Amino acid sequence: MDGEWIRVGNVADIDEDDTHPVEIDGRRVCLYNLGGEIFATDGTCTHGDADLSLGMVVDSCLIECPLHEGTFDIRSGRAVGAPCTDPLRCHPVKVEQGVIFLRPAH
Ligand code: FES
Repeated sequence: MDGEWIRVGNVADIDEDDTHPVEIDGRRVCLYNLGGEIFATDGTCTHGDADLSLGMVVDSCLIECPLHEGTFDIRSGRAVGAPCTDPLRCHPVKVEQGVIFLRPAH
């Protein structure tokens, strides 16, 4: 079951094509600004214990893991580039008057 909407920050705090780490219930989550649209995924790579917020957004929609350079599609969580094979969990986000709300997916 999905949880409540949680306020996690402001759109203005995240540069375009950049990442922003947040912690929710002790869990690492990563926010992204893709051309002005906000997305959220789990913040830990599914291949190892790497903080994806330290990775780079490439090709306008992929996050490249800082540890072994595997990639995921930020919009779907799909593992795109080796060595990543397991998808990333995505979290629904909404923006109201520049404020980002996230509903943690389980
Ligand atoms: Fe992310 Fe290996 S830990 S690609």
